[in-house]
Parts: sequence; structure tokens; C-alpha cells
Amino acid sequence: MTSTFKPVRKAVFPVAGLGTRLLPATKTMPKEMLTVIDRPLIQYAVDEAREAGIEQLIFVTGRGKSSLVDYFDQSYELEATMRGKGKDLSVLDASRADFGELISVRQQSPLGLGHAVWCARHVVGDEPFAVLLPDDLMAGSPGALRQMVDAYNRVGGNIVCAEEVAADKTASYGIVTPGRSDGTLTEVKGLVEKPKPEVAPSRLGVIGRYILQPEVMQVLDDQEPGAGGEIQLTDAMAKLIGNQPFHAVKVDAVRHDCGDRAGYVRATIALALGRDDLRDVVRDAVGAA
Ligand code: UTP
Repeated sequence: MTSTFKPVRKAVFPVAGLGTRLLPATKTMPKEMLTVIDRPLIQYAVDEAREAGIEQLIFVTGRGKSSLVDYFDQSYELEATMRGKGKDLSVLDASRADFGELISVRQQSPLGLGHAVWCARHVVGDEPFAVLLPDDLMAGSPGALRQMVDAYNRVGGNIVCAEEVAADKTASYGIVTPGRSDGTLTEVKGLVEKPKPEVAPSRLGVIGRYILQPEVMQVLDDQEPGAGGEIQLTDAMAKLIGNQPFHAVKVDAVRHDCGDRAGYVRATIALALGRDDLRDVVRDAVGAA
């Protein structure tokens, strides 16, 4: 579909968090390298971004996170050995970045998601961009970001991915003050970070996919710490409302919050049940447990 809006070509992957909810697994390994079946979480997010037409992957990393960048490099020794043994190398295709496709910047201190996104400002430049949080694994086809880009091509501006969250869970999300809605696309009138259920403006919670206009970086230039003492992306986005179109979109995909133990286990089981080579063995194992 042709669109009058500037295309979304760049995606920011904030991967500098500490992943404390999954300790000790994440003590020396980045949360985003945790494996669901046969690939790390970051691979699912990168595949989703590429499918949505993203040309430049921007990783915001921190100390101990270099394996995320190495993962997308060529593994010379491995490939040479596999080639020598006549093994099929196509299994590695998606894990190789094209020359110049991947850029990484450092967030020297985990000051919050808003701060992580701001660390990518010089690479993002003057273009709309996507943000993907790899610990939200979005299972769906077409992918969640593809569906969001389709919505962006119709309405432009800023778009957050959202879903109805349980009434007692609003304090875990950025929550939307909704305006007009056509069912899947809802005008965003306000955004509140982690409100208690009694003051939440709705149950429409923002999940880990965003399409943002570059002006959010200027807002983040002066953003003060908010909830939890962190520089919150939600607070910066809220300041764009009224100046630019702002919508929440519900996508046709299942979200697995892999930043949390239960969500991570559920993701593994759900994805395995979706695969012909694993379905029977997983059903048997779960049935026997
Ligand atoms: P989370 O809220 O899941 O934080 O961040 P976390 O530190 O990774 O995990 P817990 O809560 O301690 O278990 C959401 C996303 O934002 C990134 C994380 O890497 C994750 O992808 N993030 C968060 C940063 O890159 N920098 C930060 O300062 C904070």
C-alpha cells in the first residue's frame, strides 16, 4: 500500500535492562538471549522487524550484552567447520545481519526505557522509528509490527500496541485514556504509567511495540525520572498527545511476556504446541506431569 507518511525504516531494540525477574538465569546471560525452543528472544523480534520492512536494527545494549551483537555476526569457525562436513548452513541465515544492517549504541546505566530509547537518538535522526521490546514475544502472522505499520500507513503519527489487561494488573503497564475507537484502532487521549486499578483510565495497556515520531527524542532530552525513579517512555509519549496523531492498535497476535517466569514457560509450551515436530511430545509430557 502506498502511503503519504514517511516510511518506518529503523527499529530500536532496548536490550540494556538487568532482567532481575529472571535471576539467576540472567546473571551473566542477557534476558534477550534466552531461548524459546531453538532461537533466542532477540531473533523473534528481529524476524518480526524485518518482516515489517525494517532496514536498520539499532540495539541499545549495556555491560555484559555483547553476545547479542555477536549473535548476528558471521561465525567463521562454525561455518567453515559445518561446510567442511557438508552440513546445511541455511539454519543460520536469519541470524546473520547484512553489512551495515545492525548498529549498537550503549546505555551506560539502566536509567529506564525512555532513557534507553533516547540513547539511540543520533542513529534514529529525523525519521519515524519502531521500538520493539524483545521480552514481549508476539506470536502471529502477519507479525505484530507488520500490522502496526499497516495501521501507520493509514493514520500516521505515533502508534502503540495495546491489549486489554486484567483489572488488577494496570499497575504493571502504561494505560491509555481512550478516545474514539473502531474496535482495533483507538485514539489515545492520554497515557498514564503504572496506575493503580482504582485510578486507571481504562484497562487498555501498552505492550512492547511502538511506532514513534522523532520528536519524542526532543521530549526525552529533558525528561525527568517518573515511576520507579526511571526515565519513562510513557511520560515522554504522553507529551506528544494533542500535537501529533496518536493511536493505540490491538493486533491479531498472542503476546507472551517472557520477562517473567510464567510467561516464559507459557511461551515455550505454546510455540511448541504450534509445531508439527514437537506437538505430540509436549502434549505427552504435559499430560504425564
Ligand atoms: P523491563 O521493565 O522488563 O526491565 O524492561 P528489565 O530490567 O529488563 O527486567 P526486570 O524488570 O529487572 O526483570 C523492558 C525493556 O526495556 C529495556 C529492557 O532490556 C527490556 O527490553 N530496558 C529497560 C533498557 O534497555 N534499559 C533500561 O534502563 C530499562
